[in-house]
Amino acid sequence: MICHIEVYGCQMNAHDGEILAGILKSSGHTVVNNAKIAEVIFVVTCAVREHAETRALGRVTHLAGMPEKKPIMVLCGCVAQEHGEKLLKKMKLLDYVIGPDLYHRIPDLLLEGNRRLSLTEQGVEKYENVSPDRKQFPRAFVTVMRGCNNFCTYCIVPYVRGRERSRPVDLILNEIKGLVDLDYGEITLLGQNVNSYLHNGVDFPKLLEKVSEICEGKCWVRFVTSHPRDLTTELAEVMASKENICNQFHLPAQSGNDRILKIMGRGYTRKEYIEKVKMLKRLMPDIVISTDMIAGFPGETLEEFEDTVSLLKEVRYDYAFLFRYSERDGTAALNISPSVPMKERLRRLSILQELQAEITLENSRKLVGREMEVLVTGVARRPGQMASRTMGNRLVILESLNYNPGESVQVKIVRADGYTHFGEPIKE
Ligand code: SAH
Ligand code: SF4
Ligand code: F3S
Repeated sequence: MICHIEVYGCQMNAHDGEILAGILKSSGHTVVNNAKIAEVIFVVTCAVREHAETRALGRVTHLAGMPEKKPIMVLCGCVAQEHGEKLLKKMKLLDYVIGPDLYHRIPDLLLEGNRRLSLTEQGVEKYENVSPDRKQFPRAFVTVMRGCNNFCTYCIVPYVRGRERSRPVDLILNEIKGLVDLDYGEITLLGQNVNSYLHNGVDFPKLLEKVSEICEGKCWVRFVTSHPRDLTTELAEVMASKENICNQFHLPAQSGNDRILKIMGRGYTRKEYIEKVKMLKRLMPDIVISTDMIAGFPGETLEEFEDTVSLLKEVRYDYAFLFRYSERDGTAALNISPSVPMKERLRRLSILQELQAEITLENSRKLVGREMEVLVTGVARRPGQMASRTMGNRLVILESLNYNPGESVQVKIVRADGYTHFGEPIKE
């Protein structure tokens, strides 16, 4: 059948979309990027905030009406896991609701043709025997672990993704060897909490070292996401000692206030967090650091919010993903009072956004005039331009189409606009 897959949410989901495409292709289906001609439409959804959920469901309704013949509609991902059967009953246009651990069942379901089914048993699925159909050459995602055991009190992820499980080292290394042979230029090791990786005595720093060796001279290596509590000096030392491990760290703080961090269940204090940032900067002076922050967590006072503002100022992140708190069913934070009114959450969010935009721009401008290597990733949004990335994962626009994805180019940064930079080649 002709299948169209649309993905929302985090990089785990983006890669799950590639896993799903791999499963469909290996059982003889065709995967296209065109909803109009599709016989089956898959929407891989995110449930992390209410907005993400509503958006994905709105998209399902829109997509169902697109092809002339009514397509088979399959809702996948975290919203599927969260609402399962309930959603199937509510949305008559859905044919299947399939949780993130059950994608390998889809080919059989399509063959059997018994529509209106919901499958959401949670297991320990690691998709070990699937070859993902990767869509982002020269950048490849490789899952190292799935799930999360942290249960931060605001977060739905541990409920929809299940418990932590790590993929076997050999499997990961073999997958990466294959990608290096295919000339991929960048490998991103993926997991909700990569620092919890553990398989037969191999922990994350050891795994990273092995991956870096396989990729040496050929391929950059990065990873997401790390929990600040689990970031060790050992990991930072591995990063600093290997040239092809990107000096980039996504280290979500969530808040700058100790009481809020405590009721979020994060397991570190502001001071401990800042110490880790300092350690990273000491070992890798040019490191690019980003964060996630939540504004308006239940009970957050103005003074406590100011601590988040001051953390942004103190760390001076290169980039930050900023959110207003969103209530999620089943999470512990629902029982924490008083809730911060939505208007106030939005006000606090916009304060963080304005401040961070200034910091991001200031950091970006510091790069103007510097020379660095970039990896060409593909065409840019504007015609006549190509996009590339620095080792710090900064976007650099090249004003020419004379490059191939996967090519390494030495550029000089000539201009910066927010997180986007413009580069000129310094040698052909
Ligand atoms: N495992 C990753 C990503 C989790 S989800 C990590 O721990 O960093 C990505 C981000 O969404 C989180 O870091 C958090 O900032 C945000 N988030 C999660 N639940 C939220 C909620 N209920 N309201 C607002 N933001 C939320
Ligand atoms: Fe959610 Fe916390 Fe797990 Fe990240 S570490 S996925 S924020 S519970
Ligand atoms: Fe969203 Fe699921 Fe990722 S809830 S953030 S798509 S793990």
